[in-house]
Amino acid sequence: RICGNKKCDTPSSISPTCKLSRKKNSNQSELCTVGTGWVRSVRAQKANVFLHVNDGSSLQSLQVVASSELSDPLLTFGSAVEVTGILKKSPHTKQPVELDAKQINVVGECNPVDFPFKIKERHGLEYIRQFPHLRCRTNAFSSLLRLRSEATAAIHSYFKDNGFVEINTPIITSNDCEGAGELFQVEPSGPDYAEGENFFSVPAYLTVSGQLHLEVMSGAFSKVYTFGPTFRAENSQSRRHLAEFYMVEAEISFTQSLEDLTKVMEDMFRFATEHVLAHCVEDVDLFHKHVTPGHRWGCDLKTEHEKYLVKHCGNIPVFVTDYPYDLKPFYARDNQNHPERTAAAVDLLVPGVGELCGGSLREERLNLLSARAGLNDVYSWYLDLRRFGSVPHGGFGLGFERYLQCILGVDNIKDVVPFPRFSHSCLL
Ligand code: 4AD
Repeated sequence: RICGNKKCDTPSSISPTCKLSRKKNSNQSELCTVGTGWVRSVRAQKANVFLHVNDGSSLQSLQVVASSELSDPLLTFGSAVEVTGILKKSPHTKQPVELDAKQINVVGECNPVDFPFKIKERHGLEYIRQFPHLRCRTNAFSSLLRLRSEATAAIHSYFKDNGFVEINTPIITSNDCEGAGELFQVEPSGPDYAEGENFFSVPAYLTVSGQLHLEVMSGAFSKVYTFGPTFRAENSQSRRHLAEFYMVEAEISFTQSLEDLTKVMEDMFRFATEHVLAHCVEDVDLFHKHVTPGHRWGCDLKTEHEKYLVKHCGNIPVFVTDYPYDLKPFYARDNQNHPERTAAAVDLLVPGVGELCGGSLREERLNLLSARAGLNDVYSWYLDLRRFGSVPHGGFGLGFERYLQCILGVDNIKDVVPFPRFSHSCLL
């Protein structure tokens, strides 16, 4: 941050807090700078104190050099500081510049005895998970959240660049898209409502998937996507299940084959991953150097099958297609000309995680769709989509947290989400 003290010869007026006068900053080529952030290290020598201050914008901390008169016992690991000084070319190769401090203000103290993270110690992801309100102060988790933000932006760019319209599908819905009954019911609470009062007049739930709403929109916009929170009341503490996770879902009209779908799945995966690798070199490096990739697997049969298939194919991402028809939800289309009845459905399995993405062609023929069991009145609007201008279409959903687990080699899904929600845990 460049100082805005009018007496300083600085380009813009950003900080009203600088106490330096122009006299002190007489060299016109030097900029008076205010650095703010949290202390990551403190090293005192006879004449000088060296600090590393990090503001979360990158893994790099700014080195601050101060004369020992500016030293303060409150300058501890984790404390918040505002440093005013002159930005200088650093004599060290590791960082291009350092801040020659003229004034250090401890904005927020941090008692090192009580603070759960210790200077120079490398804390494991499992340890830092115990402190959901503080773990973003660690290098590993702040890197993770920057990567998550960059991957989010990359996924949006992919869809924008490829002609998809973003749709905000509802969080509260009356449908159970997957038909698995893993629903959180939504009920009002508060003095105006009696217990169990039905606010919406129909049972309402937190969404398990935005797919059916996307199908509505693909009937007008051809190519649509959504990227939002999704909820599943899965009674699982496994390392790849959350009760609240983010799903990237796309729906494409006039698509006739699973290959059309797998191409979009693969292109999106490649684009986002290449973007993250190109834009977050340091953060990715941290993971690849210090976070042990997880290759432990859950124990249910399906996961074991996925593990076998990925291994069998040489530990690379694998598309599995044409599942038995009866295993797939009501919306899936069948394959024609298959001797066994199979669904035109595809899952993308990846090493270390298993199922990352699930998709299918949707049944667009009214008579076949209405013949499927379980479609009661709640779905009459869904059948209407097949009455009015129905077209062959298909789509998929990618679990965003599992994607991050996959590209970063993170063993437990709880470590790639800012505030994990899973059975028996809703901290904060
Ligand atoms: O395979 P799923 O259940 O597919 C659907 O919901 C489709 N309606 C999506 C669509 O076609 N639009 O879920 C899609 C992906 C899974 O492959 C998995 O990566 C992720 O969502 N997922 C979970 N991620 C974390 N925690 C959970 N409990 C998850 N359940 C599914």
